[in-house]
Amino acid sequence: MNFEFTEDQLMIKETAREFAQNEIAPSSIERDINAEFPHEIVKKLGELGFMGMMVSPDYGGAGLDTICYVLALIEISKADASCGVIMSVNNSLVCFGLEKYGTDFIKENYLTPLAKGEKLGAFALSEPEAGSDATKQKTTAEKQSDYYVLNGIKNWITNGSTADYVLVMASTDKEKAHKGISTFIVEKGTPGFGHGKKEDKLGIRSSDTCSLTFENCKVPVQNLVWEEGKGFNFAMNTLNGGRIGIAAQAIGIAEASLEASVKYSQERKAFGQKIADFQAIQFKISDMAVKVDAAKLLTLQAAAAKDAGKPYHREAAMAKLYASKIAVECALDAIQIHGGYGYVREYLVERYLRDAKITEIYEGTSEIQKLVIARSLLDAK
Ligand code: CAA
Repeated sequence: MNFEFTEDQLMIKETAREFAQNEIAPSSIERDINAEFPHEIVKKLGELGFMGMMVSPDYGGAGLDTICYVLALIEISKADASCGVIMSVNNSLVCFGLEKYGTDFIKENYLTPLAKGEKLGAFALSEPEAGSDATKQKTTAEKQSDYYVLNGIKNWITNGSTADYVLVMASTDKEKAHKGISTFIVEKGTPGFGHGKKEDKLGIRSSDTCSLTFENCKVPVQNLVWEEGKGFNFAMNTLNGGRIGIAAQAIGIAEASLEASVKYSQERKAFGQKIADFQAIQFKISDMAVKVDAAKLLTLQAAAAKDAGKPYHREAAMAKLYASKIAVECALDAIQIHGGYGYVREYLVERYLRDAKITEIYEGTSEIQKLVIARSLLDAK
């Protein structure tokens, strides 16, 4: 087992760190207050090759491994977790599935601009009555000659109103339950495709989350991804990689909480000495450092398994479960270390807590991750 990163991996990490600290971090408070989508940053992430990191250069991607992706996503999320989720969804939930399961037509026409960062993607699985219980899709896609007609509502869609292309899971055969679900790529502006208002969220406020509506929305047959009836497998296989991305996002938040706490505790004085001299603070900082490293190891383990072509659904679930938990814990500890200053926007750590919470919810709640882990170990339902 080799714990050393390659030169390329270290270079990607450094590029991401520099970009994140110089171009993302300075405006993050404003974007959070105004819930403002980072259009310019997303464009530059595309120019850096960060919107299609693992896609083959044949389709406009950077052709990097999942380890590079994790390292970059940690750095981006450390500066602003909203940018982290935008990047993660485009890479993990959109580009990955299109490259693995898409036809040449789909790869040339949709994957290539998405991987280059010229277009933005979204992934629409959740519905008002199908969140954790994702097999209960109510959205339908009825085949009529050379197109499918989509009807239904999707909820909580990251990049929802901004995305140029949306991957939509819909039932093509109700009788077959989850084996009758299919995946379609739908272009923004298609008649019958609309979106609700941008959700006013607790955290990751500058990312764009909204509901999507499909009313007799006609989608050409060539926009079916993979095969009819494979849509649920498509969503699950894609989400396994997505969970690695969200674990990396959570680590970014946890590491930012740790770094802010180290800095502040060496500056702040109380009772005649810097607070870093108190064991109460030292113990919190050492606990945070151990948690961050443990989460990184779990996440890199999942990334390495994916790169090696081995099964990684359990590893990805473990990484997301643990990283999201410790992101919340580290953010809470960082606030406690900062005292009153931790409770105001200027010191950032209050945002870390608000941003961290969603990592325990989206791309499968912590309870769903436990279910995936347990089912992989037990012969049980
Ligand atoms: N990897 C691959 N396949 C998986 C899987 C995984 N992690 N989990 C389940 N599956 C497969 C099963 O093998 C089964 O396949 P077959 O029918 O071909 O044998 C199929 O999915 C159905 O599984 P179950 O029979 O176990 O169905 P279930 O209803 O008991 O459990 C579930 C399914 C695991 C709960 C699943 O519904 C699930 O993962 N729910 C969470 C959904 C989720 O993560 N939503 C996130 C929304 S997207 C999002 O948040 C994006 C964003 O914008 C940020």
